Amino acid sequence: MTKVAVGCDHGGFVLKDRVVKTLEALGAEVVDFGCYDDSSVDYPVYGEKVARAVASGECEVGVIMCGTGIGISIAANKVKGIRAAVVTNPYMAKLTKNHNNANVIALGGRVISEDEAEEIVRVWYTAEYEGGRHQRRLDMIADIEEDRG
Ligand code: RB5
Repeated sequence: MTKVAVGCDHGGFVLKDRVVKTLEALGAEVVDFGCYDDSSVDYPVYGEKVARAVASGECEVGVIMCGTGIGISIAANKVKGIRAAVVTNPYMAKLTKNHNNANVIALGGRVISEDEAEEIVRVWYTAEYEGGRHQRRLDMIADIEEDRG
């Protein structure tokens, strides 16, 4: 069973239940790193929790949510090995798995609806990484991370 880390701030909280239910319906085991209500919190905390769970191998992939998806994705992308992509539609969801092998997607609770979030999560989760020429590019990204430029 694929373990999926989920986390959000107050701006993304509106999407979390639907995202969790969607992942569970797809057969995933969800690990919920909070937050747990819509009280104001700091998105870097939750971006880091999910990113570290994925980078360590505790979870295979992650879904993070804030108001726009942007701040929490910036935080998550600071953790080595994380490729967190802000996704606003199913086309981006498919391509970010096919080409970028995004191991985390970031959604905006003030940008997309719960229905859109469900479809995005389903498309990303079920899409396949294509490898090939895309792997060379992911290796280039890893080189930047390692300062091997
Ligand atoms: C919080 O108000 C908001 O800044 C946050 O959820 C997110 O949108 C940041 O990128």
